[in-house]
Amino acid sequence: MPKLFKWGASISEYQNSGAFHCADSNWTRWEKSTHPNGISRIKNGDASGCSADFWNRYAHDIELMKQLKLNSFRFSIAWERIEPQEGIFDEEALKHYDQVIDALIAADIEPMITLHHFTHPGWFEDFGAFEHEENIAYFVRFAKKIFERFGHKVTLWNTINEPTIYMFQGYLPFNSVFPPGQKNFGLGLRVLRNLMHAHAEVYYTLKKMKHGKKAQIGLVHQYLKFKPYHWWNLPEYAPGLMLNYMMNDLVLNYCKTGNFRIPLPFTHYLAYSTGEQKPPMDFIGLNYYSRVLVTFNAQSKDLLQPTCYPHETMTDMPYAIYGKGLYEAIADVSCIGVPIYITENGIADHKDDRRATFINDYTENLFRAIEDGYDVRGYYYWSLTDNFEWDMGYSMKFGLCAVNLQTQERTIRDGAWQYARIIEMAQSATA
Ligand code: GCO
Repeated sequence: MPKLFKWGASISEYQNSGAFHCADSNWTRWEKSTHPNGISRIKNGDASGCSADFWNRYAHDIELMKQLKLNSFRFSIAWERIEPQEGIFDEEALKHYDQVIDALIAADIEPMITLHHFTHPGWFEDFGAFEHEENIAYFVRFAKKIFERFGHKVTLWNTINEPTIYMFQGYLPFNSVFPPGQKNFGLGLRVLRNLMHAHAEVYYTLKKMKHGKKAQIGLVHQYLKFKPYHWWNLPEYAPGLMLNYMMNDLVLNYCKTGNFRIPLPFTHYLAYSTGEQKPPMDFIGLNYYSRVLVTFNAQSKDLLQPTCYPHETMTDMPYAIYGKGLYEAIADVSCIGVPIYITENGIADHKDDRRATFINDYTENLFRAIEDGYDVRGYYYWSLTDNFEWDMGYSMKFGLCAVNLQTQERTIRDGAWQYARIIEMAQSATA
């Protein structure tokens, strides 16, 4: 076990502080809009409100991190709060993040910053966000501003959270549960390509800045595999062929070589190359939850249904506890040839009757991967506190700490203590 291994938790600003204090963003607009039939886009008609109010309660949350023995913390900086109007940066918001970073460092908790975690300013959405290559310059300018300000005290940086999920949830015809809710496959691929380009542009720009050399800058990828429930059933097998390529291989290949290429006719205009022939990143952030087992039911309106085998335990999300998948994911992304941080892994478990089992199962596989020589440098549980799970609203309870949304009272869940015990054990073994 590496001595300086990071044991952390992850959050994102919008999910843990909500839209309440927030400037206009793609997600504030999405929450307010409805499906054409007038029904809310968010489960149970939830609104993010001020969520767990991390914005105001970060000092208390840092105490919780201490109790849970964490030595690192991943959070995102909300671009919409920093640059609510194009080109106008909010000094108060910058000061706020300065204080959060200082408070973490004072508590011996290493900050890890994410620059884009699904949300961005409304004006950027109006410009077409990542649909247009020329808009990348706005994101780079924001990233530079943040790095100029915090690059001297923050070493761990993520450019973009889960480009494939941003595309999958926001652009694919059968999905589109995230903004902008486009149902356009070709546009989705263009967005994915532009996100890859945006990542590289930010990476190379920050690396050239003061403190850039010592900074560790990565891309966060959600490793998601679709597998057929019955290996011999073609309708269950076929979607995975395309989705696995698009959701994993395409991105891993880009990370490894700096070349983004779709092996389909008439897609050469979507090709992008950093021109460097090496990974445009210092590490890869790996978000891993489970694999999706697909069953086919011609009778149901949802033809493809995710499920689990009888011997497995479901989480509250539509997937099972599947710890060995974390090992598989680590082994697979190691092909990039850069260190790996598990930037997210966690369970939605409102009863808290599976959290400890989940943590044991996944960390056992993490330890096994490290023993086998994979260069994993950190593990961040998703999430520190219960949060706004996008289109699923508040129905999913991922938190190590339960949050009473009326009183904002936090309670460390029983299952979370298992995480603290594992951290202590791992640290005493390397001391
Ligand atoms: C994502 C995100 C998080 C989620 C988490 C749990 O994967 O969509 O990075 O925002 O909340 O993964 O589903």
